[in-house]
Amino acid sequence: MTDVKISDILGILPFPSLAISVREKISYMNEDAVQLFGGGLTDRHYITALRHPNLLEAIDATLRDKKSRYVRYQGTIANRDVIYRVTCNFDHKEHLILFFEDQSGLEDAIQMRRDFVANVSHELKTPLTSLIGFIETLQTAAKNDPAAREQFLSIMKNEAQRMDRLIADLLSLSRVEASERLRPTQVVNLKDVIGESIEALTPMIEKSEVKMKLSLPKTSSHVTGEYDQLRQVFMNLLENAIKYGKQKGQISVDISEVYYEPKLKKDALSIAVKDEGPGIDLIHIPRLTERFYRIDPHRSREQGGTGLGLAIVKHIVNRHRGRLSIESAVGIGTEIKLLLPVH
Ligand SMILES: Nc1ncnc2c1ncn2[C@@H]1O[C@H](COP(=O)(O)OP(=O)(O)OP(=O)(O)O)[C@@H](O)[C@H]1O
Ligand SMILES: [Mg+2]
Repeated sequence: MTDVKISDILGILPFPSLAISVREKISYMNEDAVQLFGGGLTDRHYITALRHPNLLEAIDATLRDKKSRYVRYQGTIANRDVIYRVTCNFDHKEHLILFFEDQSGLEDAIQMRRDFVANVSHELKTPLTSLIGFIETLQTAAKNDPAAREQFLSIMKNEAQRMDRLIADLLSLSRVEASERLRPTQVVNLKDVIGESIEALTPMIEKSEVKMKLSLPKTSSHVTGEYDQLRQVFMNLLENAIKYGKQKGQISVDISEVYYEPKLKKDALSIAVKDEGPGIDLIHIPRLTERFYRIDPHRSREQGGTGLGLAIVKHIVNRHRGRLSIESAVGIGTEIKLLLPVH
């Protein structure tokens, strides 16, 4: 292969790549490689041009044994730190070629998985530690104390239910994620879904003495969706409005029709769930749909929350090709708005 051919090939590759001659000089860099390492390096010795111990070691080894190898390299391109998997190949004649594949997305995904496992373990460990503590107390100090036993058993039941809820939410999240590419096919009347959710939440509504107000569109309130998943959405939104809204305040659910919603490129139903609670500071809003994100973890935990509710809502809304937006004014209240394509 001649120099011209190598530059022709490397020149059209959509990632940084460069060639080093057997005389150990850089013979060609494509545009992306110039962005990564800077210009004016052609004809320079690779050691002075590339300056990264991992890369230099791999190049040196490949020049000696002519075998391909991979190496990890972290560089900065357009002000962004990027992790590359670099392939070092010898072309069997006179060039060593380096290809830089961007692995940042993959590494981010691995990091997210690590965080997720750490979060789940932590969330399970807290109630478990408490359970073990109470079991030990029941076996020793409180062995013959029926009053203490009753009290501890009731706390233990709460902790066990907490773990049960967490596991149910995790399973539900993974089911929703698995079905995300599958379009729902049922015809669902939102009036029924919301009505049923309000009914199921009656004990909570009565306890916090909130007033529920539901306004429906004049015509249809039907969407294409999956009943159980939409019920999960409204259960969580209403539950949040009750838990984090104002005691004795009002929660309103407004459903209205939107003719040709530009974000969905079709007719939609807009559903707004509004409470009169203390509201959410702007800095938290973009993160609320992250798994386990809670503004006040202690308060949420006390109320039995796992911080997975809005993450599940977001996935379900995505699956329904809808949109979710959160608006809040501190001291006034919060409005969660959904757009769902009409049936
Ligand atoms: N209407 C609201 N007003 C104020 N804060 C809210 C409201 N809805 C949600 N939040 C905040 O967003 C966080 C995340 O909500 P999410 O529904 O995901 O979790 P959770 O309610 O804590 O737990 P879970 O839904 O799993 O029981 C909550 O912990 C709370 O801090
Ligand atoms: Mg919730």
